[in-house]
Amino acid sequence: MTYTTILTETRGRVGIVQLNRPKQMNAFNLAMLGEVFDAMEVFDKDETIGAIIVTGNEKAFAAGADIKEMAEVTYAQMVVEERVRVWDRIRGIRKPVIAAVSGWALGGGCEFVLACDMVVASESAKFGQPEITIGVIPGAGGTQRLARLVGKQLAMEMVINNRTLTAAEAQQFGLVNRVVAVEGYLDAAAAFAEEIASRAPMAVRMAKDAVNAAFETTLTEGLAVEKRDFYQLFATEDQKEGMQAFIEKRQPNWKGK
Ligand code: CAA
Repeated sequence: MTYTTILTETRGRVGIVQLNRPKQMNAFNLAMLGEVFDAMEVFDKDETIGAIIVTGNEKAFAAGADIKEMAEVTYAQMVVEERVRVWDRIRGIRKPVIAAVSGWALGGGCEFVLACDMVVASESAKFGQPEITIGVIPGAGGTQRLARLVGKQLAMEMVINNRTLTAAEAQQFGLVNRVVAVEGYLDAAAAFAEEIASRAPMAVRMAKDAVNAAFETTLTEGLAVEKRDFYQLFATEDQKEGMQAFIEKRQPNWKGK
């Protein structure tokens, strides 16, 4: 498929989607939103891919929704078009999604990162929800995911008073898994993703499902999801292979079945 606002590549078992509107700081217009999620869904269905990276460029992961495209939109159009619903498609991706962030991750860009499963940040990464400065609030999950992740007080400060987090702060508050040098940040993220992609595919899928349940259900329901997923894995060849390989002191050969 030919894309106009993103680039895609594969490295081993890792699918990479790169946001590519550098002149607009990778602001999400509707075209880019559509292409990003289409590309992610293509990688999600591809059996040769085990993990997906979404990245931007060194200066900007993404500076949010495209303000110029949104400025004249009416309430009725917002309701009918449901622009921010597109972000919900990240939740539907079943393989692990890793955000590789350098520079600005603002507004919808920060919300995109919050919806990913893991985050590798370069030392220059900056995270924030500046919607308040343009008279609105985060609309793509920011108030909810941020509050669950960093707690109420910091989320309030970020959303109400445009507090921006450095990469080091984001790591301290649990928004980022690892911080790496700006130079080679995508290579570092790709190595991390390759490690994840080499793990038992069915178990990875169930693990993602179960951890997500922790944020979306009660403890009782979440424990039930975990138990169901755990039991289901005993119906897979990979469970037999993984345990046998341990006993035989060799590396497992995963089949994804
Ligand atoms: N939408 C549209 N265009 C944007 C943009 C955005 N979100 N962010 C940057 N751009 C454009 C600028 O207008 C500028 O274009 P021109 O050269 O044509 O003037 C170009 O990208 C470069 O930007 P700057 O000159 O501003 O670059 P800078 O280095 O001085 O600042 C920045 C970078 C801090 C990211 C700054 O551009 C900025 O603050 N951007 C807006 C961030 C923002 O408010 N995001 C929230 C959007 S609303 C949202 O996301 C809602 C939601 O919850 C889904």
